[in-house]
Formats: sequence, structure tokens, C-alpha cells
Amino acid sequence: MKARSYPVVLSLACGLAAGSAALAADAAGPTHHAFVDPADPTVAEIRSIGERALDHCGTALILEVRRVLTTNSAALAIGKLHLKDYKLPAAAPGKPAVTAIRRTGLQVRNPANAPDAADLAALERIQAQLESGDEVSKVLVQRVTLPGQPPEWRVYRPLVTLKQCLDCHGSPETLAPGVADTLKIFYPADQALNFRTGSWRGLIRASVSEAAPKP
Ligand code: HEC
Repeated sequence: MKARSYPVVLSLACGLAAGSAALAADAAGPTHHAFVDPADPTVAEIRSIGERALDHCGTALILEVRRVLTTNSAALAIGKLHLKDYKLPAAAPGKPAVTAIRRTGLQVRNPANAPDAADLAALERIQAQLESGDEVSKVLVQRVTLPGQPPEWRVYRPLVTLKQCLDCHGSPETLAPGVADTLKIFYPADQALNFRTGSWRGLIRASVSEAAPKP
């Protein structure tokens, strides 16, 4: 993966080609996901609710890392991250609701954060943009459907590695003391290492449901 530097976390240049779809089968049955142009006015409300949640959660993630590392060694902080007590925003009456916020990547630490097929398509899209030197999408919007269920909208944003992430996600030289040994115990399958400042870390995602129909 090619590392690129960005001036500000979570603020990457915009630009997205619309309209690819993929089929995948997983344990819950065949799901279908399709990218939707974020500029499409029919998804404006979903996108804005999702992006607001991502702004909040992305900021909370960074502030929490800073706060936790001021009072704990990085090795001790491993058990506290990330955002274990994070509360989803309450939906306004009659408006779409944020039903989940997740973090994922192509190299994950926690197997519970591994991408599903729709996440993977989003990750691969960003990776392809980075590899080709294209503008990186600031936001991706996807519609995910399971047969017989209302659609799940997903709003994704790239997450960039900051210097303070390297204590736990860096190369062996940048990991803080004791981190490598602690990770081996709690995350034996850890792949979320060897990131550098400014390199792409993964995606943060809000799932948004459509507004309930008015009674
Ligand atoms: C004190 C150690 C520590 C620091 C510092 C840290 N992380 Fe993590 N990170 C973890 C642990 C532990 C997990 C797995 C638990 C979880 O999923 O929250 C994780 C998981 C993640 C994930 C979810 C995907 C995965 O690999 O499982 C992302 C994304 C992530 N970190 C990004 C960051 C970013 C961005 C920063 C810097 C702002 C950062 N981390 C700083 C320990 C750390």
C-alpha cells in the first residue's frame, strides 16, 4: 500500500465515480451492495446524518487516544481503546437513524472489525484510488440490502494515521514499550501494525436506516 500524507485527519479530497454493484453471499444470506453517488440529492439527508455521526465519532476517537495516553502507558491503554462506551446519536423523530458505527481496515487488529463484503468493496475503492494516485473520496455512500429487509445505508470516511497512533499501530521501532508483548496476548492475529504518520489506516462507517414511514 502506498503511503500518502494528508494535512488534516478525516479531511481528504472529494470525488467519486458512481454506480458499481456487487453480489456477495454471507452467513445471513445473499446481500447486495451498491455505491451511490454521494452528490445524489436523494441521499442528501442520509449522507448528512451519517457524516455528522462520523465527524463526531472520528473526533471522539482521536481525543480519547490523546486523553488515555496522558494518564496510561500505551501498553496499559490497549484494554481501554477504542470508544467502548460510545453512544450512538439519538434519531430525531421521523428522521433516518444511525444504527451502528464501526471501524474497519484491510489490516485489522480485532477480528470483530474485519470487513464484510460491502466494507471490503469500500476499502478496495479507496486503496485503488491511492494506488492510482487519483483523488481520494472524502465520503462513500452505499446501499446494502438483505432480502426481505429494509435497506441499510452506509456512509464511510477514510481514517488517517496520526503520530499518536504509532504507539500501538506503528512499526516495531515506533511501538511504545510493552505494546508488542501485550498485543500478542490480547490480539494474537493482529495485523494492524506498521502504519506511518499520514498513511491510510482504514474506514470509519455509520450505518443509517431510512426514516420510518409516517403513521
Ligand atoms: C494504546 C494503543 C492504541 C493506540 C494509541 C491507538 N490504537 Fe487503534 N486499536 C487499538 C486496539 C487495542 C484496537 C482493537 C480494539 C478495537 O477494535 O477497538 C485498535 C483498533 C483500531 C481500529 C479498528 C480496526 C482494527 O484494526 O481492529 C482502527 C481503525 C484504529 N485502531 C485506528 C487508530 C487510530 C486512527 C489511532 C490514532 C488516532 C489509534 N488507533 C491509536 C489500540 C490503539
